[in-house]
Amino acid sequence: MKIDLSFTSSSLEELQLRSKNIVVIDVLRASTTVTVALANGAREVIPVGSIESAVKISGPLFGEMTLRGGERNGRMIEGFNLGNSPPEYTEATVRGKSIIYCTTNGSVAMFKSRFARSLIIGSFVNLGAVAKYLGEKNEDFMILCAGRLNTIGQFSLEDAVCAGMMIQRLGSDGAVALELTDASRAAVALYKSYGRSLLKLLKTCEHGQFLTEIGFGEDLKVCAAVDSVPVLPQLSGTVIKLRKDEQRPEPGDTGIAPKTVDS
Ligand code: MLT
Repeated sequence: MKIDLSFTSSSLEELQLRSKNIVVIDVLRASTTVTVALANGAREVIPVGSIESAVKISGPLFGEMTLRGGERNGRMIEGFNLGNSPPEYTEATVRGKSIIYCTTNGSVAMFKSRFARSLIIGSFVNLGAVAKYLGEKNEDFMILCAGRLNTIGQFSLEDAVCAGMMIQRLGSDGAVALELTDASRAAVALYKSYGRSLLKLLKTCEHGQFLTEIGFGEDLKVCAAVDSVPVLPQLSGTVIKLRKDEQRPEPGDTGIAPKTVDS
């Protein structure tokens, strides 16, 4: 199985992704938020590339069953119902809802991958579920790291470390033979250097520092909690849903309250 990796998504065009199996990683915070939203019973997440698209798409649908979620500069966008903090996406708020989702980098990478052969959303919180799925699928794939806020096209360490950990987990039982590109090898090396304390990594990386400065430091503890939300968001048509066989909360269920880690 060949694993390719792109450290940013900005230089890639939709057409280049068309025939590929893609895993989009945006640890802080889009991949984590989408995973929590779907685990808590959101009907679907519809990633868009701009605020204008979000408004246009949700126009006739906006209200009861459709919510707008996302961020600019880390904060909720005016006219939206939700920001981009995973704990906002509770069962009570999102169950049964379609979420039109717009963020600076993460939703753009997801939107760009909407014609891919397959698309999975990965982060630390569902890392094991993603690795298991990829191992069983046993096809070549590409990890697409979303990159950094406000500086589209910039490398982000937390996404690269998550990618490296995913590759490491995939290869750990020796069941599949992995062929790594140079970029994939570099991600594994970064995981070996920085993976010992993921919370420390998230607190010290540039975007983690920014989120802490603007008051979202608690989100880092959610985003660092490995395997705490073991579900698999995947592309279905042009929207993102949980895999068919996965559990959704029943009415009255309190859903997943995101776990946190303290070290
Ligand atoms: C993004 O898509 O750029 C991020 O998810 C930003 C954020 O932390 O909200």
